[in-house]
Amino acid sequence: MSETLPASLALDLTRVTEAGAIAAARWLGRGDKLAADRAAVDAMRDALEACPISGKVVIGEGEKDEAPMLYIGEEVGCGGPEVDIAVDPLEGTTLTAKGQPNALATFAISPRGTMFNPGPAVYMEKLAGAYDIADLLSLDKPIAEVLSAIAERRGMPVSELCVIVLDRDRHQEQIGQIRAAGARVRLISDGDVAGSLLAVRPGSGIDLLWGVGGTPEGVLSAAAIRSVGGRIIGRLWPRNDEERAAILAAGLDPERLLDTHDLVSSSDTFFAATGVSNGDLVPGVVFAPTYAETSTWLLRGICQSQRIVSTTLHLEGRLKRIPGSGY
Ligand code: FBP
Repeated sequence: MSETLPASLALDLTRVTEAGAIAAARWLGRGDKLAADRAAVDAMRDALEACPISGKVVIGEGEKDEAPMLYIGEEVGCGGPEVDIAVDPLEGTTLTAKGQPNALATFAISPRGTMFNPGPAVYMEKLAGAYDIADLLSLDKPIAEVLSAIAERRGMPVSELCVIVLDRDRHQEQIGQIRAAGARVRLISDGDVAGSLLAVRPGSGIDLLWGVGGTPEGVLSAAAIRSVGGRIIGRLWPRNDEERAAILAAGLDPERLLDTHDLVSSSDTFFAATGVSNGDLVPGVVFAPTYAETSTWLLRGICQSQRIVSTTLHLEGRLKRIPGSGY
């Protein structure tokens, strides 16, 4: 019988996203999304040196030739259980550059070989919702039909439902369909990981996430949803014939419906998201002269636990050893 990943890894992951969030938060509102992302990558890569895993990056910063660190296929950690890694050191680079809410430093692990590798598929269409409506999600039915089934299940009018959608031109037609069905739309400029997690979280005021967003973000969201409950479904969304051909050549099927368990096939997951800026899920980093405070949403799939971890790091301790912390 295979063993489950040790519970203590939760804290190890938290150290990694805390470091990334602190470094990225120094760039909040400075108009430089690349510098913010680089700071988060450097800090997280450094923290990973002490993380007791034998990790392989499945979802990372890109292919080896375009990303010096946390590239896809990179082996990280100081030794331990063999795991796949999905990392988005800064989910919301533009949000950070503009000093806006909901930027997160995110990291997820699951046993080796259990994370979906999207290869050349940059985008996927996604639909996410909570556990009580999980069976009603469909990318093949018109959205009005899905909304009507959700309203009936929940015993409320469609007009009380709210769908979170990335504000993109490619979504205008479907936004029109959602509004025509009577539901509300919350448009977000970026950050559909936070969007999916709000959608699966009962009581968040968001009933569904719909839209075409990053495939890596879809895998990360799925890793979190294995703990929170609910469901995300998706379908790869090639932007042109060339990308479709590359997806097919990589052995992937652009027509296939990908369910949560296709994106992450084990429930033995850990997911950590530390707030960079204040957001719907967690507060952002607070800097004080001699310490910094972080908040991390920490999830473990095997026991479906959710924790908010508040950490105060003092100057004399780990804080000044975090690259880019500014101390
Ligand atoms: P970055 O943090 O990498 O900038 O991604 C933000 C994001 O909004 C994701 O949450 C989303 O999946 C993706 O970008 C959407 O891509 P695009 O901005 O190209 O529509």
